[in-house]
Amino acid sequence: MLDRTSNQPVLPPEIDRRRTFAIISHPDAGKTTLTEKFLLYGGAIQMAGQVRAKGEARRTRSDFMQMEKDRGISVSASAMSFEFRDYWFNLVDTPGHSDFSEDTYRTLTAVDAAIMVIDGAKGVESQTQKLFEVCRMRDMPILTFCNKMDRESRETFDIIDEIQENLAIDVSPASWPIGVGREFMGCYDLLNDRLELMDRADRNVVSESVKISGLDDPKLAEHVPPHLLEKLLEEVEMARELLPALDHQAFLDGTMTPIWFGSAINSFGVQELMDGIGNFGPKPQVRPAAERQVSPDEKKVSGFVFKVQANMDPKHRDRIAFVRLCSGHFKRGMKLTHVRTKKPMAIASPMLFLASDRELAEEAWAGDIIGIPNHGQLRIGDALTEGEALHFAGIPSFAPELLQSVRATDPMKAKHLDKALNQFAEEGAAKLFKPAIGAGWIVGVVGALQFEVLASRIELEYGIPVRFEPSQFTSARWLNGPQDKLDRFINVNKGHIAYDHDGDPVFMTRLQWDIDRVERDYPDLKLTSTKEML
Ligand code: G4P
Repeated sequence: MLDRTSNQPVLPPEIDRRRTFAIISHPDAGKTTLTEKFLLYGGAIQMAGQVRAKGEARRTRSDFMQMEKDRGISVSASAMSFEFRDYWFNLVDTPGHSDFSEDTYRTLTAVDAAIMVIDGAKGVESQTQKLFEVCRMRDMPILTFCNKMDRESRETFDIIDEIQENLAIDVSPASWPIGVGREFMGCYDLLNDRLELMDRADRNVVSESVKISGLDDPKLAEHVPPHLLEKLLEEVEMARELLPALDHQAFLDGTMTPIWFGSAINSFGVQELMDGIGNFGPKPQVRPAAERQVSPDEKKVSGFVFKVQANMDPKHRDRIAFVRLCSGHFKRGMKLTHVRTKKPMAIASPMLFLASDRELAEEAWAGDIIGIPNHGQLRIGDALTEGEALHFAGIPSFAPELLQSVRATDPMKAKHLDKALNQFAEEGAAKLFKPAIGAGWIVGVVGALQFEVLASRIELEYGIPVRFEPSQFTSARWLNGPQDKLDRFINVNKGHIAYDHDGDPVFMTRLQWDIDRVERDYPDLKLTSTKEML
């Protein structure tokens, strides 16, 4: 059923109150701090500082490994659910480092909205811009949080202009900062006509809120010193003239972003942002599948895997597939169809991630993220349904840009290395190629740091020290075409053929010229730099 005014389906209340989103930002802008404050206000953690370990670990490579060692934290941070006022928030974490963008891009397919955090002094940085572009490809609604206003930051208009120009999106201020740096004292809440005053003494305290009847209310002068008040009035007047008012539909279409100013570390502006997510949404959205559009209010359950995390508990070699539910009301024990293999799967121990804890999910609704423990059956891109063959669209697979061969420094452990590599390939952490001739493996990644992380994880989780070395190849292309033509090609090009972890043939080379030659000489074959993850 469609709501007549919004043309959106009327959702059951449990789905209607769900908000599933991610935070995108450049490293250091304050994502971890903001996440922590979300959890604090969501009642998921008692004290700020619990997700801090991640923030501190983020900076250097070796520290990052440390974070990976501490799987408890990094994994529970992959998806976190908590209640805030009348809403149920599912916050999906995106790794910050650019080498992990592949994972980040996939994560963004599982959410309905993104919060873009920018540093008030630095504005739109490279990683923010990249991630923003991904969101834009899906017309995803974006809420902006301009952080670190307690430090010297740029002029408010400059920040807004930069976002409008660099990202080509309309910006509508939801709040307006009063003073900057040491003088920053809070914001005028333009949506609710309130004065929000920051408490510098206690970083975890909620800001003092003063109801104001408008900018000409004499109460303002009681709280704001004259020189700041004058600037505020002048700027807000200009902002109202020059900047667009918040248009809910434009926000939902992804062409306008509301912006809040604040200081995550001082807990300032965070609740207003959370209220924004709650009030503006979006609610769980209709999802495109190759076959049809899937609406969240459909009775039957459906969902797709957007992330697989292996070895959460190294002793058990378990894997968790993170599933975004797209429709229906899921109940524990349900039997769902694994669309790729057409086999039924009883989902006996689905998990819900609550801050640093995971617990059995007795039920879940469209919009939620659940974790399904499995032994490798579930892969990224897989769909689960109540029988219908649905293939959810838009889960990107990236062409590996860097190839290296890998071997165990202890030859006795070569066999175990196969297993470890296959597992990481299933996780989507790397692409794996087995050359048709010779032993060993070639690993393909998108960013160089991934090699280091892989080496560290293989050693840590499997006890196998490995060495990555330059490969003789620099490009990999998947081969498609009629079987007989494919076989003939493979036969005469054995030295250039490898198989990925699904057993599909790949053409490997170091020369673009080679690729051009194959395309010219074998018109029946198709060479692709990515492989659909469906
Ligand atoms: P990230 O996850 O986006 O990489 O950023 P993170 O939250 O870890 O924050 C990066 C740094 O910025 C941290 O400082 C953090 O304390 C600081 N920060 C976050 N929000 C604010 C804010 O509103 N105001 C100010 N002034 N600083 C903020 P650090 O010194 O690198 O780490 P730490 O020693 O404080 O943990």
